[in-house]
Amino acid sequence: MKLLGTGSSLPRTQVSNDDLSKFLDTNDEWIYPRTGIKSRHVISDEKLEDLATDAARKAIADAGIEASEIDLIICSNVVNEFITPSLGCIVAYNLGISCPAYDINCACPGFIYAMDMADSFFRSGKVRKVLIVCAEEPSRMINWSDRSVCVLFGDGAGAAVFGEGDNLRATRLSAQPDPDKIYEKHVLQPTPYINKEEETVPMVMHGREVFRFAVTTSVRDITEILAECGLQPSQVDYFMIHQANQRIMDGIRERLGLPREKFPSNIRDHGNSSSASCPILLDECKRAGMFKKGDILVFSAFGAGLLSATAVLEV
Ligand code: COA
Repeated sequence: MKLLGTGSSLPRTQVSNDDLSKFLDTNDEWIYPRTGIKSRHVISDEKLEDLATDAARKAIADAGIEASEIDLIICSNVVNEFITPSLGCIVAYNLGISCPAYDINCACPGFIYAMDMADSFFRSGKVRKVLIVCAEEPSRMINWSDRSVCVLFGDGAGAAVFGEGDNLRATRLSAQPDPDKIYEKHVLQPTPYINKEEETVPMVMHGREVFRFAVTTSVRDITEILAECGLQPSQVDYFMIHQANQRIMDGIRERLGLPREKFPSNIRDHGNSSSASCPILLDECKRAGMFKKGDILVFSAFGAGLLSATAVLEV
């Protein structure tokens, strides 16, 4: 498959580190050096489905196609206000189209998992155009009095339209299942029959262990996928790393021994927007005119599961 267009959409409200320190025992001096984050976009009066639809419309316009040409929508989302129907179906409704649509919950690597899935549909000849929408509101998953977690996240949506082509060179998905490292739980509707302990728990994250997992798996994934594609790291134009923490990205870059300019970053103004982070970064770089035809991008992302994924895409 090949990339035809991208789009993104962000909540209006931007929350700076200084804003956080008004109600939390934290400050810019702690947050910025440890994470690279200065501010994040946070949902206030917006609905996530509207951000997802806006990002999708922009990607469809950028691709120069009609929404009716989309054969499949894969939506990556961890949580939103709807349990059912899927966010993908709501986006299809908002776009006025009736193609198959569903959600995947792969946390932060969701965009790459969705690309891998779309690739299989293209290879089997079932589709000609696929819309991937990644929309996340982690600000609604966290405990806003837990300073070790809430300072890291931001909300948003990123989308990409793919058509037939040979530009997705490879994808690699991997899992190291460990549900305790990052999780959130919520109690479902009561029934007359439930007699077990259940609890609602905002996002819990073991930061240091997740940090190590992120750097180690990303370096491994990138090294393996480049070997599989017969590419040297120097032949890659940009490494599009999941925007979780600038220090994670720096750790990956240093271990690979590569220059800073190959690692675009927007975490300063976004924080970690889970699976939306890679497509938002892709859209911002594309709209800034960074890419020329034939450039090689390597995506790498990691997160709850623990899952990780990588992909090589020629633009
Ligand atoms: N402001 C001020 N102090 C804070 C703070 C904040 N926002 N968050 C934590 N602290 C304090 C802790 O309470 C602790 O204090 P103590 O030593 O008195 O107990 C101290 O800072 C160190 O905490 P620690 O959690 O060990 O910090 P760290 O150096 O590991 O950095 C993270 C914490 C979260 C920034 C880091 O572990 C990280 O980025 N991990 C990866 C998280 C991530 O990206 N997850 C998503 C992946 S998809």
